[in-house]
This record gives sequence, structure tokens and C-alpha cells, in this order.
Amino acid sequence: MTDSASTAVEPEVEQQRAPGRPATAAQEIVVLDYGGQYSQLIARRVRDCGVFSELLPHHVPLEQIAAREPRGIILSGGPASVYADGAPPLEPGLLELGVPVMGICYGMQLLVHSLGGRVEQAEVGEFGRSELHVSEPGVLLRGMPREQTCWMSHRDTVFEPPPGFLALASSSASPVVAVEDVRRRVYGIQFHPEVVHTPYGEEILTRFLEEICGCERDWSAASIVEEQVRRIREQVGEGNVICGLSGGVDSSVAALLVHRAVGDQLTCVFVDHGLMRKDEGEQVVRTFRDTFKVPLVAVDAEQRFLARLKGVSDPEAKRKAIGAEFIKVFEEEADRLARADGAPARFLVQGTLYSDVIESGGGTGAATIKSHHNVGGLPEDLSFELVEPLRALFKDEVRAVGEELALPERLVWRQPFPGPGLAIRVVGGEATKERLDVLREADHILQEEIRRAGLYRELWQSFCVLPDVRTVGVQGDERTYGHVVVVRAVTSDDAMTADWARLPYDLLETVASRMINELREVNRVVLDITSKPPGTIEWE
Ligand code: XMP
Repeated sequence: MTDSASTAVEPEVEQQRAPGRPATAAQEIVVLDYGGQYSQLIARRVRDCGVFSELLPHHVPLEQIAAREPRGIILSGGPASVYADGAPPLEPGLLELGVPVMGICYGMQLLVHSLGGRVEQAEVGEFGRSELHVSEPGVLLRGMPREQTCWMSHRDTVFEPPPGFLALASSSASPVVAVEDVRRRVYGIQFHPEVVHTPYGEEILTRFLEEICGCERDWSAASIVEEQVRRIREQVGEGNVICGLSGGVDSSVAALLVHRAVGDQLTCVFVDHGLMRKDEGEQVVRTFRDTFKVPLVAVDAEQRFLARLKGVSDPEAKRKAIGAEFIKVFEEEADRLARADGAPARFLVQGTLYSDVIESGGGTGAATIKSHHNVGGLPEDLSFELVEPLRALFKDEVRAVGEELALPERLVWRQPFPGPGLAIRVVGGEATKERLDVLREADHILQEEIRRAGLYRELWQSFCVLPDVRTVGVQGDERTYGHVVVVRAVTSDDAMTADWARLPYDLLETVASRMINELREVNRVVLDITSKPPGTIEWE
């Protein structure tokens, strides 16, 4: 296999950078990523079922998979056809590792094709919801309804299982959508058990994990706290540590873990760039300095940032200006602290998540410095050693750790907020103090009403946008010429795709009338009903 040969030169780096299984996870399921859009979701769902799981690129050398001693292996879906030139192949030794293997979508086609079954290009593909007819439940589908719905996304279709395999089910458009060979412990399903539109998906995954792989369901993210605290102590020793707090859940949880490990050797720096939501700056300071007694330097840098943003209306130029200013302020503070302490911090805390690790190369060696997600992003040449206690965790698991550490609900469940803040929501023009203040107040009303309606956690993000547009209106007996506020609310799993949220009309009405009544500058409110794709979540 040329693919695995080409990565075989890097295993040392790979071992070092991949987060690896936490000591509290007794067992592991390896998910091999063939490039499917739901690959990460498979690993997340396995973890939701209480079994630790890691996503590895499909071409990772077999020895590395074996070294993890997984209880089972799942092959993900992927965009290729098994007949395409350069289609990711099945490493023959994979089935000799002695652990159960389950292929999903492309993963199933790959197994069937490699083991002598028949996969063909069908006339029409099958995308979206589909009806599943179970003819022979076997082990995988035992006890589940004969008729169920499931979620499909494929063009190639399995027509015959390989010798020794049992065909378990068909769908409206495909003759064979589930297969198993109990003797060899190889399983395949064409549909996606990891998405919510497959109602029995979780049961199928659980069947694979518990009964077929013999896993105990005892993994929980919160269990890593003590282990991380120990690891951080080992890494940091007596050294000083610095952490840029943004108020988001990742940096907050990372900071709290480090503080629990090394106490006042940690100093957090919170740069208030004046582009935060209403009251958010104070919340961060109150929580960390007053409640958790974490040494915290809060820098009021609003004037500096506003000055830097003067005359800047191009979105990328705004991001760059904010990023550069952020680094400057942060470095100045780090220098000042070093002078005050007599010892510069050697370590920098980063709230890097497992999804960042995967996106930067699937744990195959790329050092990860978050740039997009942090405030501006810190440059790679800062002379710090990184402390990244969240590298093994998905976002929802970080929230569980946050709850374990008693982080207030408001911070644990805070919706994602872009590093450059409100500046990239004042669109089509300069982010002036006046515009930012209008936007901040409008946003505050939206947040209040969404929370009051109990919808905050259901939404991936909800926010306002202030375009550089004014419209005519009439209030009282007077004509007005005011700002338009755009309401944007989306549901999403990972920000890669998003749907506009169907907010109740009554809520929208309350929001609009409050904005217009309470904010003199606003005379019109509109709703953004664009999903992603084709739109993005932010407006610039
Ligand atoms: P888009 O707008 O690309 O956003 O659909 C996807 C996610 O990324 C966030 N976002 C940013 N986060 N700095 C950040 O830290 C940025 O410049 C930035 N731009 C977008 C966005 O809020 C959404 O969650």
C-alpha cells in the first residue's frame, strides 16, 4: 500500500502529537477516516455510548492501529467509488488484527468489494431518508423492527454480499444495505447509524460496541480531570504558565484545569478588545478572579483596538488588524509579567480541541496552533511550550469537564463567538464605537429573549448583524432614517454546515419591537434565512 508507506516515515512525530487514549479509558474503538462528512460524528457517537474512540486517517500504518489495542475498528464513509483510480484501499492485514470490523457506507463497500462481493454503480444514487427492510436480523439488527427508516448518502451500491456473509437488509433503492460474517466478525452497513435521522442508529452502534466488541461503557470526559491535572504538573514542574482567556468555553476550561494543577504558577491574560458582547468582559473577570481566585490580568484595550480599526472596512483587513493588535497587547503583558515575576512564563495554555487536531491532519504530526478560533490567533513563533489539556476532547466533552470543574452554566454553554468579535458583524463599513454600541445593545436584547424562550442551548449561534444600511421608517408622527438590524440564528453540529433556525414568530416579534422601541437608532429588523452552504454563518 503506497499510502501507508508514505506515512510510515513519520510515526515518531505521530505518536507524540496524537492525543492518545486517556488512562481513564479502559478500551478504545478506532475509527478509520476515509474522508466522509460524518467521520468525526462516528467517533463522537461512540464516545456518547461510553466508549473512548479516536479517528485516524485511513492510511495510518497497521502497527499504529495495533499498538492502540482497539476493541474494534470502524471504517467510515467517504466520497470515493471503490472503482475510482486512487480509491482508498483496504489494508489487507486489517482483518487479521483479530478485532471486529464494521464498515459504514464507503467502508462497507470497501469490505464487500475486497472480500469478493459485488458492488456496482447504480442508475440513481440514494440520498437522504430511506426505508429499511430487515430480511434477516442476524446479530447486528437482532431485536430491532423489520421496517425502519435510515439515512443514506451513496451512489455505488452493494448487489451481493461476499462469500460467507449474510445479507441482512435492503432499502427502497438498494438490494443489500447490511451484511455480516459472524465467524470473521466483519460487519457492514450502507446507511449512517451516527446521524439522528437513523432512529435505530444508536442501538446498532451499541450492539457493535457491547455485544460484538465486548466493550464496557465506562468512558466519560469528566473522568479525565485528575489525569490531566497530573499530566500538567509533570509537564510544567515549577515553571510559570500564561493563558489567554477569551471567555469561551475552551480557554476557560483549559485555564481551570491548569489552575487546579499548578495554582498560582498560572496567570491568565484577558484582553478586552471592546468587541465583546454586553457584560461579557465583566463576567469573565468575576468568574476567574473572584470565584476561582485565578491570577488574572484584565487589559482594557478598547481604545487601542478602535484606533486600529479606524477607516478599515474590508473584512480580512479587520481580522488582520485585530489579530495583530491582539498579539501586541498579549506580548506586552507577557513581558510585563516576566519583569514583575523575574521569570518569564515558559508555558502557554491553548484550548486546542480534538476536532482541531483532526482538522490539522488527523493527529498525524501537524502541530496545532489554533488561529481561526482564538482571538486573532497567536503566532507560531512565540517562544512558549504549549500546554493543551483538551487535545483528546470534543466540544461537548469539554463542556462536561467544565461542569465537573463547576464553571458557571453561562460560560459552559456559551455559544461560539468569533475572536474578532462584534467588529466582523458591523458589516460593509467601519466598526466605530457608535455602531458597535448599537449592535451590542441589539444583540443583548436578542440574547435575553432567546434565553427567556429557553432556546439558547438549542441554537449553535444566535446574534445580530449591523449592515451599513439605513432605511426610512415612521415612528410617532415623524419619519425616521435608522439602522437595520439583522437577526441571525442557526442550528449546527460543527459549523461546517448550518441551517437557519425556525425561531417562533412570537419571539421574533418581541425581539423586533423591543429593538425598535428601546434603541433609538434602529427602525427596522430583518431575519436571515440562509443556510450554510450556500451562506456562511457570519456575514463577513
Ligand atoms: P462561518 O462564518 O465561516 O463561521 O460559517 C464558522 C464558525 O467560525 C466562526 N468564525 C470565526 N471565529 N475568528 C474566529 O475565532 C474568525 O475570524 C471567525 N470567522 C468565523 C463563526 O462564528 C462560526 O462559529
